[in-house]
Amino acid sequence: MNDIKAAIRTIPDYPKPGILFRDVTTLLGDARAFRAAIDAMIAPHAGAKIDKVAGIEARGFILGGAIAHQLSIGFVPIRKKGKLPFDTIGQSYELEYGTDEVEMHTDAIKPRERVLLVDDLIATGGTAEAAVKLLRRAKAQVEGASFIIDLPDLGGAGRIRAMDVPVATLVAFE
Ligand code: PRP
Ligand code: HPA
Repeated sequence: MNDIKAAIRTIPDYPKPGILFRDVTTLLGDARAFRAAIDAMIAPHAGAKIDKVAGIEARGFILGGAIAHQLSIGFVPIRKKGKLPFDTIGQSYELEYGTDEVEMHTDAIKPRERVLLVDDLIATGGTAEAAVKLLRRAKAQVEGASFIIDLPDLGGAGRIRAMDVPVATLVAFE
């Protein structure tokens, strides 16, 4: 995990003054770290039967696509509102100021399909919580969630575990 952590770049004051932005593009560009991260995101869910990977826009698409390929299963994009072309269901969530909404195609998941949720980072957990609600409204069984980065001070992983979803995170930044 040290190699994975070392491959993540920190950008001070992005997107706002005072924020330390954890940038995974450097990890994605490092073949060994990228593969190690994909393997480590899958391993904690070994034994769980998974039918689909759902990835949260935008970096969850890159990670989720690689995980779906590795598991030889399908991928479902969970996108910011207004980006998906077919019929959608949406779920809004609170931001620091205001609200945002994620959407999924109505036919992306069949009832009782078992889903692994993927994103690069969990902070407050608001985005992931909305994604779990969306998947459950589509009658998916959310078997687990994997993130490369946890920001434990913000409590997001606990929020998703409280929804009875097993959560795996690879590295933490306090
Ligand atoms: C980041 C990150 C997660 C979310 C985590 O996405 O990739 O999706 O924030 O925050 P939360 O746990 O507090 O909800 P961002 O908002 O930067 O969107 P982007 O991937 O489209 O740039
Ligand atoms: N990196 C990427 N996404 C984020 C971050 C971060 O540091 N904080 C909240 N969402």
